[in-house]
This record gives sequence, structure tokens and C-alpha cells, in this order.
Amino acid sequence: MSIDLQRVRAETIGVNHRIHLNNAGAALMPTPVLDAMTGYLRREAEVGGYETEDEQAERLNGVYRSVARLLGAAPDEIALVENATVAWQMAFYALKFQSGDRILTAQAEYAANYVAYLQVAKRTGAVIEVIPNDESGALCVSALERMIDDHVRLIAITWIPTNGGLVNPAAAIGKIARRNAIPYLLDACQAVGQMPVDVVALGCDMLSAPGRKFLRGPRGTGFLYVRRELMLQLEPPIIDHFGAPWVAADRYELRPDARRFETWENNYAARLGLGVAIDYALSIGMEPIMTRCRLLADMMRNELRRIPGVAIHDLGRERAAIVTFTVAGADAEEVQRRLASDGINVTTSQPSSTLLDATARSLPMIVRASPHYYNTEDEVARLARAVALLAA
Ligand SMILES: Cc1ncc(COP(=O)(O)O)c(C=O)c1O
Repeated sequence: MSIDLQRVRAETIGVNHRIHLNNAGAALMPTPVLDAMTGYLRREAEVGGYETEDEQAERLNGVYRSVARLLGAAPDEIALVENATVAWQMAFYALKFQSGDRILTAQAEYAANYVAYLQVAKRTGAVIEVIPNDESGALCVSALERMIDDHVRLIAITWIPTNGGLVNPAAAIGKIARRNAIPYLLDACQAVGQMPVDVVALGCDMLSAPGRKFLRGPRGTGFLYVRRELMLQLEPPIIDHFGAPWVAADRYELRPDARRFETWENNYAARLGLGVAIDYALSIGMEPIMTRCRLLADMMRNELRRIPGVAIHDLGRERAAIVTFTVAGADAEEVQRRLASDGINVTTSQPSSTLLDATARSLPMIVRASPHYYNTEDEVARLARAVALLAA
């Protein structure tokens, strides 16, 4: 099945004004998402926030089913939260660590996750160990295999990092985690929305992601998957009377589903938008989305690579729709500014977002261009022409 580009572009108002190549930051919402959210907000203004929630309860419940369908999970294994970091923190900080426990992570780990490892290491004496890369720059599965022993308490990695197209071998890691009964937490921020994600095939116990990136949902949305058997054993690090109803003067009871990781108040318009964004992506199909994202990203790499003075910084054998590069003689922020003045949205990635990887490769701040299926080949060519002018 191929993508009806004309239709998806007609349903993406932003493409009329800009060449949006910052989908790894926040993708353009399609009009059904916008309509669902503005309609919901209007209703809140007309009849009241609580009243709208009651009226739309079935649609709002459907968001859990949508996330579950996207991930191949069950709705009771899903918590909806305000961003991917909160989702990840809820899972990570629910785990118990003690001195000598080993946390195995990836070289291209995201900063928010790594500082949490550092905090837990400081508090508990757990140790953080970085799994080496293979010669392609992806996490080395056989090195991971050799690191496993009875002290490994967690494997937590970023599937696709924030600073390039690298796709870490998440399912192969899952097989090792499963075989050794080690909890496996997967940061799928940059994967959801641009490729199929199946938590059973991945073998992960916990997975976090946002709505605003490749899923094309609104900002301020995120979700957590926790495998049911593990979820029932986890006490969230922070609770309120929604996740843990107060049942007696001296007692609370955790909810029997993943909503134990949620709190009471929420932005329901945004939640609804998230659900519509997921349904929209699924109606197009994750396989065709992945095929087109990778086609455009490969085209972008090839065109940029040909420009003298441009260096591509993506690692790995398998590469997703995040392309990072530098232009000799122009710093990344300058490139971003100049492209913006040509109507092209890209962003930059700072070394401190992926400090270990950036240090190992001596990366400066780099430019990040991330196409989505609704971009065109012509837009990619226009980016390359604009970069060529900058590099000249
Ligand atoms: C790999 C990765 N993990 C986590 C995050 C954090 O997501 P959020 O900003 O929704 O908390 C990002 C955001 O850029 C990311 O790229």
C-alpha cells in the first residue's frame, strides 16, 4: 500500500507555509488532530471541563485502545502522561536498586535518562555500565551478551537516539533481556510514528514515547507501556488518589492497571488529539510510513553528502529518518537560522543531549533534519540546494 501524498498534504496545513524537516522535534499535526482538539476545547468552553469529560468518556477511553493497538499491547498496560520523560521516569524510578546492581545502557543514551541513572547510582550505589558499539556504531549485541550476570538489574536503552538515524537492535536486546529475566526499559521516543513498534516482538517490559514527534500528535502528551505482570509488581515513585485510591484512613490501593502511573488532572483535549494522531498513522500504515521516511532520509543523506564541506554524522547499518550533519565554516545554529529564513525548519542537537556519544566522536553542535512521509522529494532537494549555498 502506498501513501496518498496529495491527501496527506492536503490534511497538513503547515506544508503550505514551510518545509518542515523537524519531525524528530515536533511533527506537523494533521487536520483531524487539530479538529478533534479544537472541537473538544470548544465543548469545554460551552458546557464545562468536567461535563465534557463525562460526555466524551467513551472517546477518551478509546485513546488507551489506540495506544495499545499501536504497540501491540493491551489497554490496561498503558498510562497516558504529559511527555515521554515523565513516562520513562515513572517506570525507571519504580524499580528498586541497591549497591552493586548494574544498569546497562547504550552509548547514545538520551541525557534525561542518563542523569536519572546518575542520581540513582548516587543514591543507591548501583553502577552504570555502557554497552559498547559494534563497528557500525550500533549497540553491540554480543558485547551485551557477555556483560550479563546476576547483578544486572536493568537494561535501558534508547532505540533511535536524538542525534542521528542510528537504529539500535532493540529486538535482539529484548531476546537477551527475556532469556535472562532482566527488566528491559526502551526509550522509543524517536521510533513511534515512523516505524512499526510491537512490544511483544521487541521483548521489552517498559516503553516510553511522546505524541508530538513522528506520531504527529500534540505537544504535552506521552505514554508508558508496562507489561502487565511487571506492572502489577511496581509501586509508582509518586502517587495520588487517582493512581492509588484512598480506601481507608490508613491505606491506599494501587489501581490494577497501568493508570497507577497517572495523576488525576489532565489535558483531555491533548489526549484526544493523541488518540486521533495514532488512528491517523495506523490508517496510513506503519510499514508504508517507515518505507517513505527512510526513502526520504536516504535521499537527503545522499544529496547532502555530495556537497563539499558537509559531513553526515549518522551511525548504524540501519538508519531512520533523522539526518545529522555539519557544514564547514558555519556553526549549526547559524545553519538553522539561515535555513529558517529560507522557510526550511530544521533544528540542532547539542553534544550534551547525548554526551557520551558526542564526546566519543568529538561532535560539535550538529544540524538535525528529520523528514516525514508527508514531505516531498522536492522539499528534500530544496534543503540540499539551500545547504549547498551555505557551504559555498
Ligand atoms: C531519544 C529521546 N528520548 C527522550 C526524549 C524526551 O522526550 P520528551 O521531550 O517528550 O520528554 C527525546 C526528546 O527529544 C528523545 O529524542
